[in-house]
Amino acid sequence: MSQSTQTQGTSADLFTPLRLGAIELPNRIIMAPLTRSRAGEGNAPTALNAEYYAQRASAGLIVTEATQVCDTAQGYPNTPGLHTDAQTIGWRAVAEAVHAAGGRIVTQLWHTGRISHPLFQPNGALPLAPSAIAAQGQLYTGQGMEPFPTPRALETAEIPALVRHFADSAKRAVFDAGLDGVEVHGANGYLIDQFLRDRTNHRTDQYGGSVENRARFLMEILEATTHAIGADRVGLRLSPTGAFNDMADSDPLGHFTTVAKALNSFNLAYLHVIEGRPGHHMAPAEGQPHVAAALRSVYKGALILNGGYSRADADAAIAKGEADAISFGEPFLANPDLPVRFARNAALNEPDRTTYYGGGAKGYTDYPALETVAA
Ligand SMILES: Cc1cc2nc3c(=O)[nH]c(=O)nc-3n(C[C@H](O)[C@H](O)[C@H](O)COP(=O)(O)O)c2cc1C
Repeated sequence: MSQSTQTQGTSADLFTPLRLGAIELPNRIIMAPLTRSRAGEGNAPTALNAEYYAQRASAGLIVTEATQVCDTAQGYPNTPGLHTDAQTIGWRAVAEAVHAAGGRIVTQLWHTGRISHPLFQPNGALPLAPSAIAAQGQLYTGQGMEPFPTPRALETAEIPALVRHFADSAKRAVFDAGLDGVEVHGANGYLIDQFLRDRTNHRTDQYGGSVENRARFLMEILEATTHAIGADRVGLRLSPTGAFNDMADSDPLGHFTTVAKALNSFNLAYLHVIEGRPGHHMAPAEGQPHVAAALRSVYKGALILNGGYSRADADAAIAKGEADAISFGEPFLANPDLPVRFARNAALNEPDRTTYYGGGAKGYTDYPALETVAA
């Protein structure tokens, strides 16, 4: 059975075990992917990265920070890749450390598309995107802030190689690095999301126009990655109403419902949807529809929800059958032992936003666990 045990209105809560595809979770408290910009030489994970993830091994599942699938995929300084041997060796050490600490870990695979800069591209080339439409705003290049450049629209003939990069990184993740699977990053305005949403996809070939055509890139990636490592080790993240990275769509509810229905045929390990709770910075904007409930009603596999959940909100969402599991971003960043804190109703450490991106151990591996506080 590759489908999860879905919960529809039961007495389950965050501490009820759950199976996501091939992965058995002791609890439903997922660590959301968090870019921390602390990879080492050649964008390979380091011993410090391994320590950080191992500290968080009590999560039901760790989803790692977004990880490049090829050398055109990067958009921020010091984010890890999974397309060279050195990077694969770095991830192997991360997987071993998390497994030794009793955890489970999948890596999030991304291509940033237009959310990049020639400084990150081979030979200083323009970033790649479905269409030559620049994001409004600025990005941090490591040498200060720069306006987003106008990307180069991909030729149709270039797309199959990008699809293969996702599958190749998935193989490296599972067969070479020993990670438990991958999460395809279809959210937050990066390349796959740029194809999915009609603000950023103005193509006239088979990858643009109708929602089926805009979803073709994603579907081909899922086809290739599930073929490469097995559908029960592949998850997908979407953010249908997210505005981050200057994103919008003319009909998020209709379009993403169509996408979610099409996902059923893959039997993925899970679908992970960002839709912030009321008041959260990732909540749908004023007047925008909420889509998570609609996706739940058409998508047959396991659903993880994310965006500003407290322990009580998460337990309620699971009990009501709105989701099978909940992921936590900032709470996990600042609380390596989040499940124990939830179980004991203990206070949470506050995250320090000044140390989110870049730097070393400070604000990364030095958040205290309860035991340390008590000692
Ligand atoms: C520092 C930081 C880095 C993030 N990096 C990623 C990322 O690499 N991939 C991703 O899909 N989301 C990323 N996110 C979004 C989080 O996964 C999550 O959706 C967001 O923090 C909302 O969940 P929360 O309210 O539980 O924190 C990041 C968020 C933060 C704060």
